[in-house]
Amino acid sequence: MTRSLTILGIETSCDETAAAVLRLKDGKATLLSDVIRTQLEEHAPYLGVVPEIAARAHAELADLTVAAAMHAAGISYAELDGVAATAGPGLIGGVLVGLMTGKAVAQAAGVAFIPVNHLEGHALSPRLAGTCPFPYLLLLVSGGHCQFLEVRGLGDYTRLGSTIDDAVGEAFDKVAKLMGLGFPGGPAVERLAVQGNARAHEFPRPLLNRPGLEMSFAGLKSAVARVAQGAETQAAKADICASFQAAICDVLSEKSARALAVFDAGGGETRFVVAGGVAANKAIRAALEAAASANGARLIAPPLRHCTDNAAMIALAGAERMAAGMLDGADGLDAGSRPRWPLDEAAALSAPVYGGGHKGAKA
Ligand code: KG4
Ligand code: ZN
Repeated sequence: MTRSLTILGIETSCDETAAAVLRLKDGKATLLSDVIRTQLEEHAPYLGVVPEIAARAHAELADLTVAAAMHAAGISYAELDGVAATAGPGLIGGVLVGLMTGKAVAQAAGVAFIPVNHLEGHALSPRLAGTCPFPYLLLLVSGGHCQFLEVRGLGDYTRLGSTIDDAVGEAFDKVAKLMGLGFPGGPAVERLAVQGNARAHEFPRPLLNRPGLEMSFAGLKSAVARVAQGAETQAAKADICASFQAAICDVLSEKSARALAVFDAGGGETRFVVAGGVAANKAIRAALEAAASANGARLIAPPLRHCTDNAAMIALAGAERMAAGMLDGADGLDAGSRPRWPLDEAAALSAPVYGGGHKGAKA
């Protein structure tokens, strides 16, 4: 029996201001509250997330959201064992707001502060349901990332492959923008795709015929842009959405089959997790389900609410780190914010495949 840990988690790295209270006991997580306040309406007129608007909205909402999560959990600040907040990667203004809020609450409550990597939150999100022991193969598909990782344990991630240009969510968002479908793009494209013919356009499947696990989506988006110029009617747009989504499904399922072939499950059941905002897409889930079962693996996808950004996964990452005695430094209070923070830092340093410049590699 281990001590139970009650952790407040805070997430502000993109356009969701979120706070959650989670209790971890004997490896089992129980959510006491899970509040997500989206800023969709603020960003919708610009068809994308505007970093300055996001930072200001987080600043207005962060302490209210924390108060709402504590109220819903029905506990006092004195009952917390720690506070975890996303310290990166993400839009730096928002990350700073969450980090400062988390540090302030931790100091006021006299408990540890745990800086959390947002991507580790996504990577651990299937464990919120309690049925996903290590190790597992992870496909992380979000607005900023698309990569296969071997998750061997807490903090033990090996990159197997990554996009070399756009992330899948980014491709969905750009395709939606091209056709004026609104924001966020992923759900809009998915809704329209249901009405379209997936064989109407033969879009490229980038890097599909090359060996390995690297992926690319920038060319696909450009191919869609050429066709989208002439698409006026809803039916024409639906065909483009369906054909685009089919190309993404083909690439992800073929690369997943290859990743499953190299992943070492250690002899037991092979678990294949899909996490991140794009994992909310039903057609993609179905394609991955088929790839998993054809390769003797079980697909695990968090519930939709925990695929997109949320604070429950941040609280879980904080709680698991605290339970494992993996807190850095002076209670984390000296932790800075990081716009880029790859999960497999060694691989990103020695062989960066995506992102660069002064901020460093994304993967
Ligand atoms: O994980 P997330 O909430 O934020 C990041 O960390 O990036 O992912 C957001 C991304 C956006 O690009 C959004 O368009 C995409 O996930 N997304 C979807 C769907 N729901 C969200 N993409 C495809 N189909 C969906 N249903
Ligand atoms: Zn995310």
